Amino acid sequence: MIKKCLFPAAGYGTRFLPATKSIPKEMLPIVNKPLIQYGVEEAANAGMMDIAIVTGRGKHAIEDLFDNNRIIEDAVANTDKAQLLEETNTLMAACTFSYTRQKQMKGLGDAILSGEPLIGELPFGVVLADDLCIGEQPHDSVLAQMVKIYEQHRCSIVAIEEVPEQDTHKYGVISGQEIEPGIYRIDDMVEKPPEGTAPSNMAIIGRYILTPDIFDLLRSTPAGTGGEIQITDALKSQISKGGVIGYKFRGRRFDCGSIHGFVEATNYFYDHFFNKP
Ligand code: G1P
Repeated sequence: MIKKCLFPAAGYGTRFLPATKSIPKEMLPIVNKPLIQYGVEEAANAGMMDIAIVTGRGKHAIEDLFDNNRIIEDAVANTDKAQLLEETNTLMAACTFSYTRQKQMKGLGDAILSGEPLIGELPFGVVLADDLCIGEQPHDSVLAQMVKIYEQHRCSIVAIEEVPEQDTHKYGVISGQEIEPGIYRIDDMVEKPPEGTAPSNMAIIGRYILTPDIFDLLRSTPAGTGGEIQITDALKSQISKGGVIGYKFRGRRFDCGSIHGFVEATNYFYDHFFNKP
């Protein structure tokens, strides 16, 4: 039912310099697969086959990943290595890819608003590729779980996870009433609350389902935390309009925007998916 998924991918990834001086952070691999490919696989698993990517300067490598490369394909044809391209080829056959650029680095809310021409007027998913998520079951990705919640509640949904109190200042943080196990009707959200002021320890992580009225709300959202236009502030306006649901997903998230989370994900994926006898 939700066909489109937006990937804000314009950020500089300065925590990973010098690697990100010449390659997009979304192209950093966990073992041998770029982060953004994990995200696109998750979107496809949730039935979202129209992939819309908001890029910026120096991000061509993302477009090249989801495009044919005859020289490399010919080089591995009829060798054991041909299978290494299979997952990418499957995605390329199943999905469409469209791109637009964020003109100025004005925050996640502005990046999402830049994607409006690619999305149109239907509900859509959002994946922040540096949050790498796995569902408890392989065919029940976090985004697929969120689609089911959307079908019940028909409003914007944010994925949430409990984090240690001392980490709440790194996230958007919600407060709300648990209306069913793991499902919260949100009554407040704050982007990166100063230490000691968070309304709870339930952090928003980089998976959203947004209803398209978010674009008008983003247009009228002033710069907030860090002088940037924040998706959290636009979602806050939706709370009083149609409501917003927080969903404590079944699965695990790796914060691959940090060195620690990146290494943790690398070890986990190597042990669980590559290091099989
Ligand atoms: C963004 C959002 C924040 C959310 C986080 C999840 O922040 O603004 O609300 O908690 O993603 O990863 P960023 O990490 O881009 O600063």
